[in-house]
Amino acid sequence: MAQVDINKYFKPDLKKARKRTKESVEEINFQLKDMHKKIGINKKYQIHTYGCQSNEADSETMAGILELMGFTKTDIESESDVIILNTCAIRENAENRIWGELGRLKAFKRENPDLILALAGCMAQEENVVERVLKKYHHVDIIFGTHNIHLLPDYIETAMFSKEKVVEVFSNEGEIVENLPKTRNHQFKAWVNIMFGCDEFCTYCIVPYTRGKERSRSKEDIIEEVKSLVLEGYVEMTLLGQNVNAYGKDFKDIDYTFGDLLRDLDDLGMKRIRFTTSHPHDLDLKTMEAIRDSKHVMPFFHLPVQSGSNAVLKRMNRHYTKESYLNVLNQLKETVPGISVTTDIIVGFPGETEEDFEQTLDLVEQANFEGAYTFVYSKRAGTPAATYEETTPDELKKARLYRLNEKVNDGYLRGNKQFEGRTVKVLVDGVSKHNEEVLAGYSEHNKLVNFKGDKSLIGQIVSVKITKAKTWFLLGDLQ
Ligand code: 5AD
Ligand code: SF4
Repeated sequence: MAQVDINKYFKPDLKKARKRTKESVEEINFQLKDMHKKIGINKKYQIHTYGCQSNEADSETMAGILELMGFTKTDIESESDVIILNTCAIRENAENRIWGELGRLKAFKRENPDLILALAGCMAQEENVVERVLKKYHHVDIIFGTHNIHLLPDYIETAMFSKEKVVEVFSNEGEIVENLPKTRNHQFKAWVNIMFGCDEFCTYCIVPYTRGKERSRSKEDIIEEVKSLVLEGYVEMTLLGQNVNAYGKDFKDIDYTFGDLLRDLDDLGMKRIRFTTSHPHDLDLKTMEAIRDSKHVMPFFHLPVQSGSNAVLKRMNRHYTKESYLNVLNQLKETVPGISVTTDIIVGFPGETEEDFEQTLDLVEQANFEGAYTFVYSKRAGTPAATYEETTPDELKKARLYRLNEKVNDGYLRGNKQFEGRTVKVLVDGVSKHNEEVLAGYSEHNKLVNFKGDKSLIGQIVSVKITKAKTWFLLGDLQ
C-alpha cells in the first residue's frame, strides 16, 4: 500500500482547541446548496451513534442533512451507501469499541468499494485518533469533527465524485449554526441544544477540547424550536449542554441565564421539561426557584460531584469542596422539596488514596443520591491529568468501584422505595423488553416504571399507583 502523506490534511490540534478568546461567536445559517439536493436520491445511509445525548442530537442533525440531500435511512449495513460513525472520546473503553467497529466495517467496504465510510464526533477531534486512522484504517473516506457537521454535504460530494479522502477537523472555539434540519429519532421526546462546548476544563476531561468554547444559543432561537416541537406533538424535551447552568453567561449585552430560560420555556405547551448536564459551581438559586415555580420542569436533577475528597476535587479543577457541594445540594432540596438527585463519580483519579475514596463514600451517604453513574478514571491524552502520576493499581480501582456501586445501589433502592403506595405520572415510552403486555415509561422523578396496559397508551402521560419498588425500576397498576 502506498505511503499516505498524513501531513496534507486539515487535522485537529488539541493545544489549539484549548485556547479561549473573548471574541464574539459567529452565528451561521445552514442552507443546502442546490447542487447537493439530489446527490442522495436512491441511496441509503446509516449512522452509528456512541456516547452522550449531545452526540444523539448531532446524529439527528446529520440524518436531517442526509435526508435533505435525498438519502433514506436503512438498518441493513450491506445496503448502505454512506455509514457515519458518530464517536465518543470520553473514556478509553468507549474508543476501543469504536476501533473494533471500524475494523468490522472494512469487510463492507471490500464488498462495495463505493460505500462512503465517515468518522465523526469527539474522537475525530483528537489528533492521535486521526493519525491512527490515516495510517491504519485506509477504508475511512471522511473524517470530520463536531464543529463542521453543517459542511457534511460538501464532504459527501467530494468523497463521491472525486473519490478523494476528506479530512477536515477544526480546532477552533466553534460557532453556532442555526437552521439545521433534524430527523428526530423519537416521536414524542426531543433533544434541544441550548448551548455548546464547555469552559470548565476539569483536568480529566477531553470535552472542552473536542467541543470548543461555551456558547449559548439565543433565547429566541430556542423558543422558536420549542414552539415548533409543541406543534409537532412532542410531549417531553431535554435541554442539552455540557454545563447548562452556565447558559447565558457568555451573552455580552443581556443578563439572561438558565433560570430565566426555564421560566420562559415553561409556558410554551411542552408538558415535560428536562435538562442535562449541570456543574455544581454554576448552579444558582435563580435556577432552583425557577424549577420550584414551574409547572413543567421535572423534579429531577443530575448533579455530577465526581469525588468527595477535597484534595482530589482540587486536582480535578472542580471549583468546589465536599462541603460546598453538600450546601448547594441542600439548598436545592430545600428549595424544591422532593426533588430526586443523581450524580456522576470517578474512582481512581491519579493519586486517589484510600482516605480520599472513603470521603467519596461518605459524601454518597450524606447526599442520599437516588442514583449515580460511576466510572473508573480513564487517561485522556492532551488533558492535564494525563501528566499526573498514577499510583493506584488497576485491581484496587476496580475494587473501589465495586464498593462504591454497592452504596450507590442502596441509594437507588431507597430512592425507589419512597414511591411505594404513591400514584405517579408516567410518560409511556413503549412495551417492556421482557413482556409485550407490560408498558414501560418514566415518572416525573425519572424513575423507570413498569405496569400492565394497552399499547395505545404509548406517548401519553398516565397515572400509575406504585405497588413495588425494585433497585432499577418500579412496578405499578394503571389508574
Ligand atoms: N475518566 C473517567 N470518567 C470520565 N468522565 C469524564 N471524563 C472522564 C475520564 N477521563 C465522566 C465524568 C462526567 C461523565 C460524563 O463522564 O464523571 O461527569
Ligand atoms: Fe468535562 Fe467538566 Fe466540562 Fe463536564 S464540566 S464536560 S466533566 S470539563
